Amino acid sequence: MHNIETKIVKIEDLYNDSIDQPCEILKNGGLVAFPTETVYGLGALATLPDAVKKIFQVKGRPGDNPLIVHIDSADKIREVAYVDDRYLEIIEKITPGPITFVLRKRENIPYEVTAGLETVGVRIPAHPVAQRLSRCAGPIAAPSANLSGKPSPTDAATVIEDLRYRIECIIDAGESAFGIESTIVDLTRTVPLVLRPGPITMEELSTIFGAVEYYQPRQDEKPLAPGMKYRHYAPEKRLQMVEPSELANFIDKDVLILCSKETKESFLKNVDNVYVLGEFERPYTIAQNLYRSLRYLDKSKYEEGVIEKFPEYGIFFSIMNRIKKAISKG
Ligand code: TXA
Ligand code: MG
Repeated sequence: MHNIETKIVKIEDLYNDSIDQPCEILKNGGLVAFPTETVYGLGALATLPDAVKKIFQVKGRPGDNPLIVHIDSADKIREVAYVDDRYLEIIEKITPGPITFVLRKRENIPYEVTAGLETVGVRIPAHPVAQRLSRCAGPIAAPSANLSGKPSPTDAATVIEDLRYRIECIIDAGESAFGIESTIVDLTRTVPLVLRPGPITMEELSTIFGAVEYYQPRQDEKPLAPGMKYRHYAPEKRLQMVEPSELANFIDKDVLILCSKETKESFLKNVDNVYVLGEFERPYTIAQNLYRSLRYLDKSKYEEGVIEKFPEYGIFFSIMNRIKKAISKG
């Protein structure tokens, strides 16, 4: 399985035919890694069960973890799922963008995609390459394009590191804008239920839907988003999280300190073992660099890492959700 010649297709200009080859590969049942505005995805045509099965093999993904289906525009949502008019109107208003809706699936979406569930996650990415690819090939089933258990890739070099020789094609279109995975909202319940926080914040969702609930899986319960039970986003090295003021305890230790620019300037001036995640005042920059920093930690000379604890409002809530997964063991 690991001896496939992987075509690397660099797309800088959408006004040429560079999307044609990846599109043909998908239609022929091959796998294509492609950029979205959240993270890179590993795609197969959603209507080809055998192609979809290969995604699980290639990633080493547990078979009970469903995939998200990517389409290019909200007016195609009824080709893959059932949605009532009221929600469709909202979805049309707020997409394309970094959000996934869980809806009742249509018959043409095979259980290979949904891991046996009657529901399907549907996303309309804002990235022009993802849109073009789906417009050309059809609905694309895709998880993040990392090996299972590793942080999601936010650039093509990282996808190449994980998936070269395992898949037919990797599209390189630069860095992902958001750097963390889409917000997931389950719309099959009376009140919309947020299964995974993401770039669209809880505050924004409350404004959009009136009221939303936040789902927190209990230890003893089967989680609604099956992916949430796995240790995700995790570096191989030990990582702990501490208050910004405590980071100074790690100066000159064999530890990489991951923190905001502001924290470095307040507590860690002229310290070498620091990796700046981004700016506290522009928290989307922190989201954008988070997974890159976790992969960097593993490659660095440092024995372990320590990361700044952030507050839990707005996009920081989603950032903290990912950090907590990265520091959790098991
Ligand atoms: O931003 C993203 O969402 C990226 C890009 C590539 O679109 N994709 C992504 O996919 O993060 P993945 O497979 O790494 O995470 C999908 C999550 C999993 O936790 C899965 O359990 C959940 O979505 N999920 C998918 N379909 C579901 C469904 N029908 N019901 C509940 N959860 C679902
Ligand atoms: Mg993933």
